[in-house]
Amino acid sequence: MSLPKILQNNLSIPVIGSPLFLCSGPELVIAQCKAGIVGSFPALNARPQPVLDEWIIRIKEELAQAKLDNPELPIAPFAVNQICHASNDRLMADMESCVRHEVPIIITSLRPPEEIVTAAHSYGGLVYHDVISVRHAKKAAEQGVDGLILVCSGAGGHAGTLSPFALVREVREFFDGTIILSGAISSGSAVASSLALGADLAYMGTRFIATEEANADKEYKDMLIESAAHDIVYSSLFTGVHGNYLGPSIEKAGLDPVNLPEADKSSMNFGSGGNTEAKAWKDIWGSGQGIGSIKDSPTVQVLVDQLKQEYLAATEDFKAKSVY
Ligand SMILES: Cc1cc2nc3c(=O)[nH]c(=O)nc-3n(C[C@H](O)[C@H](O)[C@H](O)COP(=O)(O)O)c2cc1C
Repeated sequence: MSLPKILQNNLSIPVIGSPLFLCSGPELVIAQCKAGIVGSFPALNARPQPVLDEWIIRIKEELAQAKLDNPELPIAPFAVNQICHASNDRLMADMESCVRHEVPIIITSLRPPEEIVTAAHSYGGLVYHDVISVRHAKKAAEQGVDGLILVCSGAGGHAGTLSPFALVREVREFFDGTIILSGAISSGSAVASSLALGADLAYMGTRFIATEEANADKEYKDMLIESAAHDIVYSSLFTGVHGNYLGPSIEKAGLDPVNLPEADKSSMNFGSGGNTEAKAWKDIWGSGQGIGSIKDSPTVQVLVDQLKQEYLAATEDFKAKSVY
């Protein structure tokens, strides 16, 4: 078990609510942290750039107040996600905001984040980097990240293709920092399974889109409730990088989900458009495969309470079965 001090005794279950382009804002993050899981959001969701400072200040103030009001409850720290890619011209300004307010955890995506690690470590912050392969994991580990997020097959958004059974073991061989597992984790039993596999924390995205606090259309939330794994389409068309999307939203945009062309990689585009007329994320909705178990769109607190029950039940079940 490799959990940093700031996560010890501050979690009700070992979960990070992952950053969700457009869907996660202060309401979702504050609700997640108050429920005892790490809440996070992409810095790019705060627009224009100075709004990022306002969001961070609000989150810090509301969490500090929640701690004063309920000293006995676990209140989790929060994280800001930085997209480390040439198309993100806000990266350094956003990181300066994070340093100014000493954001506890920075989640980095795409390029290995050397300068982000240096900046976060300057005030004692942690950096968790998301990867889809051992090659990327080794590069990030060399740059001193504190945790690796293994984005395995079936994850929402830009997902990998490796099985978590394969990737967790291979990464554990050379990395003794925090391992966070991602991909189709939507229930408490899947969280327990992640820990049984050797991860320290589970990373859940899609499940939290179907909550009251998520900034998503009702139609999107309903589509998550009504769809199942077979509706998920893995395509590079919309951003230039392979990702998982809801087939019915692709159909609604007038495209055939089973006959999509490959994307032109030179027009890689994150968050500000996409390669098709129907804009990625805004019209083409991201989703992981773990949606069969989504039956409702409750508050975050209700969902986390339910995940905790499922997590404890799965742990008991595992113990009961371990009698050979
Ligand atoms: C709608 C949507 C938007 C996402 N936006 C981002 C993002 O801005 N930055 C990021 O690092 N990951 C993003 N992701 C990926 C998630 O953070 C996470 O890796 C993924 O959701 C985990 O898989 P799951 O959805 O099956 O739980 C997004 C995923 C979805 C579904």
